[in-house]
Amino acid sequence: MASSLRPEGPEPIARRRLLIGGAGLALAAAASPVGVAAQGSARALKAAVGRVPMVGDGRPETAVWCYDGAVPGPELRFKQGDRVRIEVENDLDDDTTVHWHGLRVPNAMDGVPHLTQLPIRPGGRFVYEFDALDAGTFWYHPHHRSFAQIGRGLAGALVVEERMAPPVDRDVTWVLSDWRLGPDAQHVEDFGDMHDVSHAGRLGNTVTVNGRVSEEFAVRAGERLRLRLVNAANARIFGLRFGGHAPHVVAIDGQPVEPHRPDGGVIVVAPGMRTDLIVDLGGNPGTRHPVLDAFDRRRDPYRVVDLAYSHDLSLRDRPPGPVAPLPANPLAEPTLAGAERHEIVLGGGMMGRRNHGMVRGQRMDMRQMMHNGLAWTINGVAAVGHMHEPMLSLRLGQAYVLAMRNDTAWHHPMHLHGHAFRVLARNGKAAPRREWQDTVLIGPGETADVAFVADNPGNWMFHCHILEHQLGGMMGVVRVA
Ligand code: C2O
Ligand code: CU
Repeated sequence: MASSLRPEGPEPIARRRLLIGGAGLALAAAASPVGVAAQGSARALKAAVGRVPMVGDGRPETAVWCYDGAVPGPELRFKQGDRVRIEVENDLDDDTTVHWHGLRVPNAMDGVPHLTQLPIRPGGRFVYEFDALDAGTFWYHPHHRSFAQIGRGLAGALVVEERMAPPVDRDVTWVLSDWRLGPDAQHVEDFGDMHDVSHAGRLGNTVTVNGRVSEEFAVRAGERLRLRLVNAANARIFGLRFGGHAPHVVAIDGQPVEPHRPDGGVIVVAPGMRTDLIVDLGGNPGTRHPVLDAFDRRRDPYRVVDLAYSHDLSLRDRPPGPVAPLPANPLAEPTLAGAERHEIVLGGGMMGRRNHGMVRGQRMDMRQMMHNGLAWTINGVAAVGHMHEPMLSLRLGQAYVLAMRNDTAWHHPMHLHGHAFRVLARNGKAAPRREWQDTVLIGPGETADVAFVADNPGNWMFHCHILEHQLGGMMGVVRVA
C-alpha cells in the first residue's frame, strides 16, 4: 500500500479545498487501493467475471464477479448536487441490477429487479440517472440474487463529497468484506446454503480491506484521517477497535451525526452500513497498532489490519483542533406529534419462538418453510422474490414511526430503500443522538423505533441486509403513494 502523505503541515482551509478538488483527489487514490477514483457526473460500469489477488502474494488469484475488473469496484465520487449518470453494462452470464444503497433516488432508479425495473439481461445495458441529494458515504451492489452476486465480489463504494468538507489530511475508504474461501483461494460453492440461511448468514473465513487480505495500512504520526468504513460483507458484523486510538464517529450511513466517541471504543458496522470516522493518529513514528474486530464476544478479537506508522516526524504536535460536525443533509424532519405508528415484528430462524409463517398466502411451519428455502418472517410473512403486495402502504408526505421488534435469536440489520430514518429509541430508551440511518442493527430480543417522512413515492424494499436472511424471506415492500 503506497504511503503518499503530504509532507507539509497544517494549511489554510481554502488551499485544502482546492487540493481535494484537484491534486488531492489523485493523492487520495494513491493512498487507498480502491481502483481508480473517478470524479465527474457521467460514468460507465461493467459487471463481468474476473480474477483478483484477494489473499495476496504467492497464493492463487480468486475467481470473482466484479465491476470494472476490480473487487471492490471503482470508488465512484461525485459532488453533492451533481446530476449522476451511470451506464451499467452486464457482461455476466446472469441477470443483474445495480442498487445505490442509501442514496435517495427516484424509485425507477433504485435497481430492484421486477419491482422497479426489468433485470439487465446478459449483454444488456441500463442507464441510471439521479441527483446526488445527500453528501456522504454510500455504496452500490446488485439486487438480483444478492447473496451470490455480492458474495462473489460485486460491490463498490460511492462517495458524495460535501461542497464544504471539514479539512483532513487524507480521505480514505475501507470497504470491509468477508469471504468463504477454500484452500485454493476460490469461493466455496455453497451460496444460499440452508444452514447459513437459517442461522447467522454466510460467515466467511477471509476478511479483506478493499478486496485484499491486508497486513498494514500506512499512516503518518500526527495526521488526521477521514476514514469511511463500508461493510459489504454478506453477513459479518464488524466491531472495530483502533488499538489505542479513539476515533470520532461523524456520520452513520452517510448521514452526519454529532461527533462522538462510541461506547466502549467499539465501532459497530453491520452489513450494508457505513461509518465515517475522524481518526487523529497520535502514535509514535515507527510503531504499529492493530485494528481488531471485537464484535463477537464469544470469540477472541482478531486483527483486521495494522496501522503502521512511518518513521517520518509527526505532522503536528497536537490534534488539529476539535472534530467539527459535517454539514447536515436536506432531510425532511418527521414531526412526531402527527406521526402514524406501525409495529414490525421480525420472526423465524433457528432457536426462535415463532415457528411458522405465511408463504404466498399459505400457512407453513418451519419445516415446510425450510423446504421452500425460507426461514424468516416480517409480521408473520416470509417473502419470495421481490414482487409482493406491500406490507405497508404509506401516504406521501406523512410522518411515520416504525416500531421494530426482533423476536428471533439473531441479529438483523434492517434496511429501508429510498429514505433515511431517525433512530428514536432502542429497547424503549431514547437514543441520545437520534441518528439518521438507512440500516438499523437490532440484536436478539431487542427493539428499535425509527421515524421518517415518507417523501419519496414508489415501492421500496425493506429487508435484512444479512443477505441469506433476505433470501430466506426477511423482506417486504413498503409503498409510498
Ligand atoms: Cu444494500 Cu436492498 O440493499
Ligand atoms: Cu437478518
